[in-house]
Amino acid sequence: MSKDWWKASAEGLPKLITETPGPLSKKMHASASRYMKGLSEQVTLFPVSFDEGYGVMMKDVDGNRYLDFSSGIYVTSLGHCHPKVSEAVAHWAKRLMNCHDFTTPVKEKLLEKLASIMPGKLNGMQLYSDGTAAVEAGIRAARAISNKQEFISCFRDFHGKTMAAVSCAQMIRGDVFSYGATRAPGFYMVPRPNPYRPLFKKADGTIDTDAYINFYDEFIRESTVGNVAAFILEPVQGWGGSVFPPDDFFPKLRAYCDKKKILLFSDEVLAGMGRTGEWVTLNHWNTIPDIITFGKSFGNGFPVTAMLVKEEYADSLNKISASSSYGGNPMACAAALASIEVIEEEDLLNNVRKVGAAFLRRMEKMKASHPIIGDVRAKGFLLGIELVKDKGTKEPNPEAGKLVYQKAFRKGLAWIPAGHILRMSPPLIMDEETAMKGMDIIEESIAEVEKEQGY
Ligand SMILES: Cc1ncc(COP(=O)(O)O)c(C=O)c1O
Repeated sequence: MSKDWWKASAEGLPKLITETPGPLSKKMHASASRYMKGLSEQVTLFPVSFDEGYGVMMKDVDGNRYLDFSSGIYVTSLGHCHPKVSEAVAHWAKRLMNCHDFTTPVKEKLLEKLASIMPGKLNGMQLYSDGTAAVEAGIRAARAISNKQEFISCFRDFHGKTMAAVSCAQMIRGDVFSYGATRAPGFYMVPRPNPYRPLFKKADGTIDTDAYINFYDEFIRESTVGNVAAFILEPVQGWGGSVFPPDDFFPKLRAYCDKKKILLFSDEVLAGMGRTGEWVTLNHWNTIPDIITFGKSFGNGFPVTAMLVKEEYADSLNKISASSSYGGNPMACAAALASIEVIEEEDLLNNVRKVGAAFLRRMEKMKASHPIIGDVRAKGFLLGIELVKDKGTKEPNPEAGKLVYQKAFRKGLAWIPAGHILRMSPPLIMDEETAMKGMDIIEESIAEVEKEQGY
């Protein structure tokens, strides 16, 4: 299949034929909202109802065609309804939908394929059907491997919404606070380095990675009972606003974990599988974790996730059952296998690196000419723009975040809000010309908001 399979449907995007959200969208959303409660900010700020998607195009029920800069929510990374993925799922939907955790031909092929793209013999595996379940399995695996119980995680990271996953995150977030007044015992949080807003700085004002590691050491000594199984963190902070660590952070954290016999658990549900131009995000820093999780784009929209451990720890997984109702079903394995094959066949890691560099160049230019852009960040197609009231004070500008999100969506860009940080996760198939069209819409929207806010 030609790697340009999606191009015809991207011609002339966005194509709007009504005001957006259109009348049918609004009516449908109002009707669904009578029943569906707790919708995300993404939906409540822009209540559109979608009906179709192909490649980088999403169509709403009024017939408006949007340019997709979100991939669902970092999920449909190969574009909507990639023919190879859709056909692979349809094949098994007609042949064998479920056979518990028995081996199937497609599962055997997927496991071989996944092992072949992992660095450092990360080849003890279990398959699940959402990111949270994979993270929970990783937490159980860490306990099984180490016979230790405690966990360290990072401020503003996100790992899912079950009891252990939520205990690795900020409990006062609106969507998780119902889990109770406190996190589960044995779960502790520490700050992670954010180069734009460093907590620990050197004399010249730049971020001091060693000070973070020294803090972790002291924190673990003083706060835990010395029974830390794993340090779990996102390689790049996703929900927290596309925050990338300084380049020396992961090598130093790896060395620290080795010294203290703490497992390093990289939750790559959002950032992994090609989004940053690498299968494994920690490859950017030549660091191999002990435990890793994949999800979201792993099946390009079909719910399939994975938890992997290093070969030397693989036998410990026999202590935690891989059995689940849906994990590793034939349709799921087919979707994940086809997705990996598409990334290879269409040379998408290279596309992500090349077009990702163009994204960053464009965002740097925007930062230089817009007073409310405090910081821009990118690796591959994992992008963030931080909006501030003042570049000197760096005071966040959440009102601008909301307005820019709504304005750009109204102009035909489907994307993701995150308070004052604009997050973009376009499909990895996108070429530079289409990518810049999306950035034009964002820049135009930022300029309008600046004018409204009196800059
Ligand atoms: C880093 C990370 N881990 C885990 C999860 C949970 O995945 P899911 O929503 O598939 O359960 C998410 C979801 O946003 C995530 O970003």
